[in-house]
Amino acid sequence: MNEMEIEQSELLEKLNHPVFRFVSQVADELNLETFVIGGYVRDIFLNRPSKDIDIVCVGSGIDLANAVADKFGSKARLSVFKTYGTAQVKYRNLEIEFVGARKESYRPESRNPEVASGSLQDDQNRRDFTINTLALCLNSNRFGELADPFNGLQDLNDLCIRTPLDPDITFSDDPLRMLRAVRFASQLGFFIDPDTFDAIKRNKQRIEILSKERITEELNKIVLSPCPSFGFDLLDKTELLELILPELCALKGIETKEGIGHKEIFSHTLKVLDNLAKNSDNLWLRWAALFHDIGKPAVKRFDPKLGWTFHNHNYIGMKMLPAIFRRLKFPLNDKLNYVEKLVSLHMRPIVLSDDEVTDSAIRRLLFEAGDDIDDLMLLCEADITSKNPEKVKRFLRNFRLVRDKLKEIDEKDRIRNFQPPIDGNEIMRLFDLPANRTVGVLKTAIKDAILDGIIPNEYTAAYHYLIQKAAELGLHTVINE
Ligand code: CTP
Repeated sequence: MNEMEIEQSELLEKLNHPVFRFVSQVADELNLETFVIGGYVRDIFLNRPSKDIDIVCVGSGIDLANAVADKFGSKARLSVFKTYGTAQVKYRNLEIEFVGARKESYRPESRNPEVASGSLQDDQNRRDFTINTLALCLNSNRFGELADPFNGLQDLNDLCIRTPLDPDITFSDDPLRMLRAVRFASQLGFFIDPDTFDAIKRNKQRIEILSKERITEELNKIVLSPCPSFGFDLLDKTELLELILPELCALKGIETKEGIGHKEIFSHTLKVLDNLAKNSDNLWLRWAALFHDIGKPAVKRFDPKLGWTFHNHNYIGMKMLPAIFRRLKFPLNDKLNYVEKLVSLHMRPIVLSDDEVTDSAIRRLLFEAGDDIDDLMLLCEADITSKNPEKVKRFLRNFRLVRDKLKEIDEKDRIRNFQPPIDGNEIMRLFDLPANRTVGVLKTAIKDAILDGIIPNEYTAAYHYLIQKAAELGLHTVINE
């Protein structure tokens, strides 16, 4: 028996959901040959949880959806998309899509969505990958019967992503499928069949016609996959990466001068991402890992005494982010701020653990990182990719010290979401000042004094310190104490 084949009884068990019984009854009543198809069936065989159900029938998908929604009663919500000949029924937490089998590709983005109806196999022909063409019949006399004209089950067993038709045709129907191939490979740990792979390289420019939102949806799924380096490596090898994220491609390669080479930053970056993926499912933290060194190529210098240097790469990297976020149509709100913060601060804990860890340096780090301090520490730990086990041990030991110290200072001084106890308005009132530079200078003086441990994080201490600093500038309070 093929490893992927599951016992018929097990299959029927998986189709035992009341939804399939309902659809089956309605399909029989309307005399429509009906199947559950695509990702749902693939995931049954992979034993993965699946959510959305795709139903295809030989006839009108809209009629079937209508009748099914009627049967479900008032709990069901029906939406019909006439132009595409599709309908959706929402029932409890399930989304069920209905479509009539087509001869042509029915992707919503196809230029010509009005296509002729066809047989089940016509419909399977125009799907993306053999593993997504699997269909199980729902009519009662053939309930659970598998339709697998492209050996999709065998491909599932062989861990292979392959298009059912000539890949040039499949990809011209919808170029997003090139990214989907990489995404499925990365999510499932599959490889891409060589002919399919070559076709991606050949057709890569076609992704230019896709909306950025569709591209980033796939990218995010790759970033969130269990071993994301696998997907990024494939994006690189298929040459899609240079079209989507040239900033990452620019990290590739090693330059050598006077016999000295530097670390290969692209593979280092992917290693950091994988390290992080073991400890966090946070999408934006994972993106921060991918972007943490993007500033390096711009600032790379060779110094005969120091070797290769990348001064300020964290700052330059942070400055590159808004343009990348805008181009990819990523959210330009707190997500951008978060990634900027992590990229700009990613060197700090490592420098701290190199030097002596002073309370003042820890306070400053806590102040700048705020609530993102734990994510920053995760990123920094993931950033240790040295092959020298002694070095790794030393860094991890120092990081533990930094973490302990962070905890201690955080509890003692409450710096994490720290707002200096005296704000600009109060300074203006106390000294009858307009909003000018002096107010900023005094505000910073209070903040620095607290962070440096000169005064405690309290109002009275800050007030006295302020009066003293103001006097040094020749200012005296206009309010009687
Ligand atoms: N499909 C396709 N071409 C696309 C998108 C989808 O042929 N560009 C087909 C595939 O048969 C796929 C089905 O439509 O299985 C459902 O698509 P979708 O819900 O996007 O993907 P799933 O395969 O269900 O996987 P996931 O939910 O992980 O995205």
